[in-house]
Amino acid sequence: MAGITFKHVVKTYDNGVTVVPDLNLEIKDKEFVVLVGPSGCGKSTTLRMIAGLETISDGDLFIGDRRINDVAPKNRNIAMVFQSYALYPHMTVYKNMAFALELQKMPKKEIREKVLEAARILELEPYLDRKPKALSGGQRQRVALGRAMVRNPEVFLLDEPLSNLDAKLRTEMRSQISSLHQKLQTTFVYVTHDQTEAMTMGDRICVMRDGIIQQFDTPQNLYNNPCNMFVAGFIGSPQMNFIDAVIEKDGDGYAAVFGRTRVPVRLETAGSIEGRQVVLGIRPEDLHIEKDFVAAAGNSTVTAEITLDEMMGSEVYLYFTIDGKKMIARVPSKLSARMGETVKFALDSDAVHVFDKETEEALR
Ligand SMILES: Nc1ncnc2c1ncn2[C@@H]1O[C@H](COP(=O)(O)OP(=O)(O)OP(=O)(O)O)[C@@H](O)[C@H]1O
Ligand SMILES: [Mg+2]
Repeated sequence: MAGITFKHVVKTYDNGVTVVPDLNLEIKDKEFVVLVGPSGCGKSTTLRMIAGLETISDGDLFIGDRRINDVAPKNRNIAMVFQSYALYPHMTVYKNMAFALELQKMPKKEIREKVLEAARILELEPYLDRKPKALSGGQRQRVALGRAMVRNPEVFLLDEPLSNLDAKLRTEMRSQISSLHQKLQTTFVYVTHDQTEAMTMGDRICVMRDGIIQQFDTPQNLYNNPCNMFVAGFIGSPQMNFIDAVIEKDGDGYAAVFGRTRVPVRLETAGSIEGRQVVLGIRPEDLHIEKDFVAAAGNSTVTAEITLDEMMGSEVYLYFTIDGKKMIARVPSKLSARMGETVKFALDSDAVHVFDKETEEALR
């Protein structure tokens, strides 16, 4: 069993800067967890602490039941794959994968079985005699994965392994790594700043900001119930739209009001929130221009001129401005709304998110 547990883990670098102030995180055995967040938020630092490449300043880190704060990297039974593949240039693909096992003095026959098995899974069999410089980026990255695989690690650590690849290859490798995880049935911790990678690959995603976990949840929950504006803005592409509004009474419930727009909102918050300054969050696909939808939306609409339309194939992204704020709607391309037209958009009141303007936390 090789879950990973952080208990009050702190990382302060030698220059006195604390980049991870108090990390508590439980990764389950066999889980694929993605650490995601903007540049400098502490993703690599967190991963490198698991690998033993960074010391832990305070707190406890466990792999399975074993506290590993002071266990040497080579005794942690982990394997790490980096953005730069760090292959040995003068060795063949076979040798690159076999090398660590040879150092361990594993019998030759056993090494051969392991390397061939990894090569088969990663479709590297035709390239075993080549040197890395005669391989494409994707093939090199697969060799780096193979080198990690042959060691049968309990935990795979991957730090932005796809960021050197072009977009098409990245998509391909994304699904290869996911199916590798399926086959190997081991724990994967994967660092990226790309929310699409996070959403498509993770069983659970840990969204970090300034060394602090904002939300650790399934892709679906992060998308549907973001806990604050940071997560709401980070997850989802194009980004969620944000509009300032004020809460007013609306019959038995409340409405978020801005300009002439009133959006009924269901909030279970105890106590009165009348007059509260909020930010309304609405995903681009929850703005509708179909006639029926607009007619049914009452005052939950905005009218604006489309300043740009971006054809994406089955959908069009429509850009417009509300109160000086840029907004994007994502509508089926068969609906003919184009640049220069003035359009009424309905806000789907069942799908809006409400955030406290001051704390930026979700109000529910
Ligand atoms: N050896 C070091 N000494 C001092 N500060 C460091 C060191 N390594 C990293 N940092 C700082 O720690 C913070 C977190 O760095 P880290 O590399 O973990 O970020 P990251 O989330 O992986 O970012 P990126 O997406 O750019 O790779 C940054 O502010 C960085 O400048
Ligand atoms: Mg990093």
